Amino acid sequence: MANTAVLGVQWGDEGKGKIVDLLAEDADWVVRFQGGTNAGHTVLVKDKCYIFHLIPSGILHEGKKCLIGNGVVVDPPELLKEMETLRREGIEVKGRLFVSDRAHVIMPYHKKLDALSEKLKGGKQIGTTLRGIGPAYSDKTARVGIRMQDLWHPQRLREKLEEVLPVKNLLIEEFFGEEGYELETLYQDALSWGRDLKPYVCNSHSLMREVLESGASVLFEGAQGAMLDIDCGTYPYVTSSSTTVGGIFTGAGVPPSAVDRIIGVSKAYTTRVGGGPFPTELEGKEGDLLREYGKEYGATTGRPRRCGWLDLVALRYVAWLDGLTEMTITKLDVLDAVDQLKVCVAYEIEGERTQEMPSDLELFSKAKPVYEVLPGWQGSVRGVTKWQDLPPQAKKYLEYIEEFLGVPIRIVSTGPDREEVIVR
Ligand code: IMP
Repeated sequence: MANTAVLGVQWGDEGKGKIVDLLAEDADWVVRFQGGTNAGHTVLVKDKCYIFHLIPSGILHEGKKCLIGNGVVVDPPELLKEMETLRREGIEVKGRLFVSDRAHVIMPYHKKLDALSEKLKGGKQIGTTLRGIGPAYSDKTARVGIRMQDLWHPQRLREKLEEVLPVKNLLIEEFFGEEGYELETLYQDALSWGRDLKPYVCNSHSLMREVLESGASVLFEGAQGAMLDIDCGTYPYVTSSSTTVGGIFTGAGVPPSAVDRIIGVSKAYTTRVGGGPFPTELEGKEGDLLREYGKEYGATTGRPRRCGWLDLVALRYVAWLDGLTEMTITKLDVLDAVDQLKVCVAYEIEGERTQEMPSDLELFSKAKPVYEVLPGWQGSVRGVTKWQDLPPQAKKYLEYIEEFLGVPIRIVSTGPDREEVIVR
């Protein structure tokens, strides 16, 4: 298989887990390059439901190897928990799961600060997953982060904690009036994570070079989606990592030539969790219908997702940005529920019509969707596995998307099970 990237092209939760799971059969390696435990990939295998936050879902495939790259922020107790869950299911991770020694560690104070900062924002909450993602990436860029490799260097670890903890405690205790952290406890905990995880940690850049030079095929598994990208998304209502294609190169430590095929994954409609503008959002009954049919509740937080029509303006922006070579459309069957389909083909902002993605959030908040209406299929596409078996209206809907984006759709998911998929 060509080296392939699977990227979310909306606000996350596009159903990438299932597509990665499908493509992992033909890959030798599955690599994560950004995000942390904020991600939640649900994969259904024979009625068993697996939810992963850190470990690539490729681990379910016998013999496949997985890497958590340097661009990921790792919460060690959570990673150990996931490893234990897999072991209990009879899936051995030793020798198959690798973690970059350059990856940064999510510390307990990151999670606390995530929650406290959100509380402080009042009505302007980002609606983070409270997993410490923002504070961990902030420390990384402020150059005071703790990396995986620090966890088994006692002297270095202590020095780093001595540098960073007084500042965190000052903030937590003096500003927020909450209880801070004791250095010795954190230090001992971190050393114990290091002992448990050391067999899995490696110099991932050397590893990736070896893997690519050997001709093995790699699947790069994105988390979240392009509209949540720290640079290209709807800032500040974004996550703190690079969710677009560039994140692969810095977050896995590979050159651009390492990726041949770039698949953008989008639902057949749009969802978003957390705050921030969402022009095609449906409030009331229509939104509820999509939420119930699509079971749109977060895998990580259980929060109900905001639902709306497909936003082709945002998708076209991302298709260009990510250099998509193909698209995957998921949850087409959820649209069985509606009689008439709408797709957003332009925004109207302060009386002006545009097909450009505004960079200014204030303008984006004012964007009113201009819709094209397409007929629904008044039936069910659930479980369809062949393109020719789709109702003509469903084909028309997909062809409309392809044409608007100028990107071919090669995979269509028609239900939650592994087998409910069309591969063209
Ligand atoms: P954080 O990544 O926890 O800091 O959250 C920042 C924003 O990204 C919030 O709006 C979250 O709801 C959103 N977010 C983070 N991870 C995911 C995901 O996996 N799916 C969907 N939204 C996410």
